[in-house]
Formats: sequence, structure tokens, C-alpha cells
Amino acid sequence: MLKSPDEWDSQWETWFHRYSQGNPRLGKWLLSNYSITNENILEIGAGSGRESRFLSQKVKSVTCVDFAPHAVRLLANSSLPGNMHVLMADAANLPFPDKYFDLTFHKGFWILFDSNAKLEILLHEQLRVTRHISLAIVQNGLNNRQVREAGTKAQKDPLFRFRFFIPSEINSLACKIVTEHGIRAHIQILKYGAPSLSRFLLPLGALGDRFAVKIYKFLPWKFVECAVLQIVKV
Ligand SMILES: C[S@@+](CC[C@H](N)C(=O)[O-])C[C@H]1O[C@@H](n2cnc3c(N)ncnc32)[C@H](O)[C@@H]1O
Repeated sequence: MLKSPDEWDSQWETWFHRYSQGNPRLGKWLLSNYSITNENILEIGAGSGRESRFLSQKVKSVTCVDFAPHAVRLLANSSLPGNMHVLMADAANLPFPDKYFDLTFHKGFWILFDSNAKLEILLHEQLRVTRHISLAIVQNGLNNRQVREAGTKAQKDPLFRFRFFIPSEINSLACKIVTEHGIRAHIQILKYGAPSLSRFLLPLGALGDRFAVKIYKFLPWKFVECAVLQIVKV
């Protein structure tokens, strides 16, 4: 399932523009859930950088890393705000000192990996560069409808061939890494996104966005788009 940087690049071009222009819903959710206005943020596997671009208006600085050269070039050449930085780097070997960022996150990144052993390496590296909060946002396997829809789309477009996660799976993975490396942290699984709710709220614009970010946590898992692994170092 995992693609090499070149393979990824060849598929990404068409999606870059579409993703960049979408609603930065995750950025809005992050701002409503975390006090990050004075913080340095890292987005791993940033792709279009849509969420980071939105966050850059509100936080101290945001850094995007991605390992695909063309993806990085597209983003770096797209007139970035002064506090947004883009770097080509492998998420398994990040070029930053320990605890360099206050909050680190990625979305739609772990879903590219079949192997839990690889995810463990990626999580350990993410935790290393994080001072406070690490987030991993993955597609929720308890939402049968979105699993089916992705299966149908994958027949035409290989970009939709990705992994879904059951919330307890990512909780176990995080517990294993935190325990093995003696990291003192609180682990929680949160809910983010709901495609049907978003469609319903779309006509309400910004008001709908504000309402949506408050409501995800009350939805049953079968309607939720993503599970968020939240690890807070103590
Ligand atoms: C599905 S995209 C993420 C999309 C992104 N969240 C967005 O909103 O545009 C996954 C990204 O992870 C990157 N990626 C895959 N493996 C990587 C690795 N080992 N290190 C860094 N980036 C990687 C890919 O190049 C791709 O841009």
C-alpha cells in the first residue's frame, strides 16, 4: 500500500489543487480544541498543506514536512505566509531536535501503511520531536458507509486504496510505544468529522463550521469520519 515518493508524486498532482481549495475543517477543529495561538506546530505528510495554511493565520509558526519532492515543490511554490515553512523529509527520520514543536499532527498519513511495525517507528519519531501534544488522525473503520464508498472509489483511483482503523487499534499501538519507551503521557481517542453532518451544515457557511466542531464528540462512532489519537506528554 505504501507508495515511494515518485509513485506518490505521480498520483498527487491532480489531487493537490483540489485538496488545497477544500475547506480546512481540521484546522478549524484544532483551533477550537487546543490553545495553540502562541505555539509552534508541525504537520507531517502535509500534502497540500491546506490545514497548515489555515493554521498559519492563527498560530506562531507552522512547519510542513512531506517526503515526495514534487508535492513539496508544489506547496513551496504556492506563495506561503512568512510563518509557514515547508521541508522535504522522511517522517521516520525528522530533521528536528527533541521536543522542538508544541503540537504535531497528521491526517490521512498512517492510512498509507499496512505495517504496524512501521507505524510504531513513525509514532516514536513524532513523539520525540513533540514537547506537548501529538495527534494522529486516521480514517475510522467503524463507519461502514465510508469504508464501502472508499472501496468503490478505489476501483477507479488507487489514491483511495488506504487503510481504515478501529479506534481501539490505535489506542493499543500508542500504549505499546509509550510503555516501551518509558514516555509519561495521557492517551485518548477523540472523534473528528462527520461527512453527513458536514453536507447538512454546508449551506450555513462559517456558522455551520462552528457548530460542527462542537458536535463531533456526541456522535456515535458509525457516523464519525476519523479517529484522533491524542497523546499528551505529562
Ligand atoms: C493522503 S496525503 C495527506 C494529505 C494531507 N493531509 C492534505 O490535507 O493534503 C499523505 C502524504 O503523506 C506523504 N508521505 C507518505 N509517506 C511519507 C513519509 N515516510 N514521510 C513524509 N511524508 C510521507 C505523501 O507524500 C503525501 O503527501
